[in-house]
Amino acid sequence: MRNILVTGGLGYIGSHTVVELIKNNYTPIIIDNLSNTEIAVLERLESITNSKLDYYNIDICNGPALSEVFSKHQIDAVIHFAAFKAVGESVEKPLKYYINNINGLNTLLDTMETFKVKNIVFSSSCTVYGEPDSSPVNEAAVTKKANSPYGRTKQIGEDILQDCKFLNTVSLRYFNPIGAHPSSKIGELPLGVPNNLVPFITQTAAGIREKLTVFGSDYNTKDGTCVRDYIHVVDLADAHVKALTFIKENPENKFEVINIGTGNGFTVLEIINTFEKVNNIKLNYSIGPRRPGDVEKVWADASKAKLKLGWEAQLDLNEMLASSWNWQLALKNK
Ligand code: UD1
Repeated sequence: MRNILVTGGLGYIGSHTVVELIKNNYTPIIIDNLSNTEIAVLERLESITNSKLDYYNIDICNGPALSEVFSKHQIDAVIHFAAFKAVGESVEKPLKYYINNINGLNTLLDTMETFKVKNIVFSSSCTVYGEPDSSPVNEAAVTKKANSPYGRTKQIGEDILQDCKFLNTVSLRYFNPIGAHPSSKIGELPLGVPNNLVPFITQTAAGIREKLTVFGSDYNTKDGTCVRDYIHVVDLADAHVKALTFIKENPENKFEVINIGTGNGFTVLEIINTFEKVNNIKLNYSIGPRRPGDVEKVWADASKAKLKLGWEAQLDLNEMLASSWNWQLALKNK
């Protein structure tokens, strides 16, 4: 197994995964339609990895264009990131999400079947658990009705993959990816007002936003704010490489779901305090009302990832929040 098609390979998680793939002697073939990133990421990836990369500007829903890539390259496995991911927007524009995320997956799988490519790593999310009965949550937990069309596209995506018996699938359920590559050459690109906590924190610290609002302080948690399992994007990228090894070593596998988190939950206030401490910055924030649709607390039981993939998170919250801030600082010069 050598040639890996990375859909959405210039996005936040995709770009970090491309770096880890090259480190591990894979050859990534990137497709990305630049809907939530920019072409400059390609050059930065080439600079980090010191290599020339194969890249195609292709929409994941464009079957004929995908077929051309599969004709040109002998694809051994696919890592499928290309999808929309803004929870709030998905509530406003559900069809945008169902069309892109579901049609995109179907088009990709159809092409894979035609070209007899069976190996796939899928980007799933802890959002498939909805509000879990208890945390840490493990993969056997029932998936509740997702709190957004975005979340439902991940649930439906997993169902489709499970139904396609020709596939050898590993579906990675990410918890909350944050942080950036230590080079500060790649990270999460801001587009408009961030919805997610850490980009909002770094933009507030940089003076781009006036103030961070903490969404709710009356949750049933130790300080009243929501708890999440934040995971460094470099660790997350590495989990994809380990998932490929699993697929290679388990050719009879059909469908496996695996949580990718640290196993530790942190409150919003703990994130803010750690960010301030690690980066020696005072953050302007205040407590506001709850954000509709937010889950109170969720963190991973990450033991299956260790057992099946030999993977566990290496980087701690300090490293996550220091690299997020370094990336924010580097963005000024990009
Ligand atoms: C959610 C989904 C996740 C999905 C991600 C994509 C869940 C449990 N998680 O993450 O699967 O991939 O969206 O965007 O459904 N917060 C503030 N102030 C802010 C922003 C956020 O207090 O300005 C709080 C939120 O209320 C939440 C925490 O920070 O408690 C994390 O929020 P966010 O970064 O948006 O991620 P999730 O909503 O957990």
